[in-house]
Amino acid sequence: MTAVTTDRLIAPHGGTLVDRTGDVPDDLGSHERVTLTSRELSDLDMIAAGALSPLEGFMGKADYDRVVEEMHLASGLPWALPVCLAVDSAPTGDRVALANEAGTPVAVLEVEEVFEYDKEREAESCFRTTDDAHPGVARLFAQKPLYLAGRVTVFERATPAFAELARDPAETRRIFAERGWKRVVGFQTRNPIHRAHEYLTKVALETVDGLLVHPLVGDTKSDDVPVGVRVECYTTLLDGYYPPDRVLLSAFPAAMRYAGPREAVWHAICRKNYGCSHFIVGRDHAGVGEYYGTYDAQLIFDEFEPHELDIEPMFFEHTFWCNVCGSMASTKSCPHGPDDRVFLSGTKVREMLGEGEVPPVEFTRPEVAQVLIDAYRD
Ligand code: ADX
Repeated sequence: MTAVTTDRLIAPHGGTLVDRTGDVPDDLGSHERVTLTSRELSDLDMIAAGALSPLEGFMGKADYDRVVEEMHLASGLPWALPVCLAVDSAPTGDRVALANEAGTPVAVLEVEEVFEYDKEREAESCFRTTDDAHPGVARLFAQKPLYLAGRVTVFERATPAFAELARDPAETRRIFAERGWKRVVGFQTRNPIHRAHEYLTKVALETVDGLLVHPLVGDTKSDDVPVGVRVECYTTLLDGYYPPDRVLLSAFPAAMRYAGPREAVWHAICRKNYGCSHFIVGRDHAGVGEYYGTYDAQLIFDEFEPHELDIEPMFFEHTFWCNVCGSMASTKSCPHGPDDRVFLSGTKVREMLGEGEVPPVEFTRPEVAQVLIDAYRD
């Protein structure tokens, strides 16, 4: 394979792509063992791969406090959400083995600190609510009471759910460079791609070199569309409607936090590590229920100095099909009223799919609808 330079791409967050993979230590058997939750395991794997650069491990108190209060790491670099490991008690040794849910050790953590944290404060700052009906808050409130901090070395990477879509930041960067892309827009999603999503990605793609379709494949809430079905929707849509030489479909291994605005910033920083110079933020990005205003996830970017994040957010208004325009549009580009728009609630769409009914082509591509109908019928 010929080496390609990735120098023309945006630099990773903090300047260097972290690699925290390494060998199994000889004395592994003597380490105390800490078993991680599936969210913590996905964070661990992302640290190993550099997706959370510059983090080299689970956060210590100085980073945690400044992130919670001011959306920056102790170093002054922007960062939007805690990446922490919750434990019941402080370990006795200076190293612990981190185990997956099956109890198999996959990494070692060099113990730097164990600290107490205030769940209400974290919830209020990060989720803007302490309501435990919020799935992210519920997860936080159910967590163990202490945070264990330290640098990690991962010797057994997680088995990816979709091996063909699993690409670490170093690999997406290499592919972008090989294709000669410099300006690359990242698209986060936890849903099947409907016409509105398709419109955002294509409008964005018109102005850059390439598009990274980067669906989140980590934990989501149980009523979100299962990831296997979504992946089939993505490949079906891309096969039929996107130019393959301008698009890369790849999995984003993170778990959803449902932290709305803060998660939008966190999502953008992660995609910068994957080599994206731009990132799409539409309506209620990473939102859930009625906790966030429609454009809060866009407004939060104003809390950073210009160019502080480096990656450029691309904001989109609520997008819909307009019958008069005969195209996708938003109130920014279309003067017609709500009666001319094709709007379907999530509940209505689920109902139609459940009955084997194809939603209108203005809402979703028929091929995608068919994948969903087949899945809902099973
Ligand atoms: S998210 O939790 O991953 O944000 P979703 O997959 O629905 O959920 O959205 C992916 C991206 O598309 C987000 O940036 C979101 O803001 C945007 N988006 C979804 N639907 C619309 C729409 N109708 N108009 C504008 N932006 C949208």
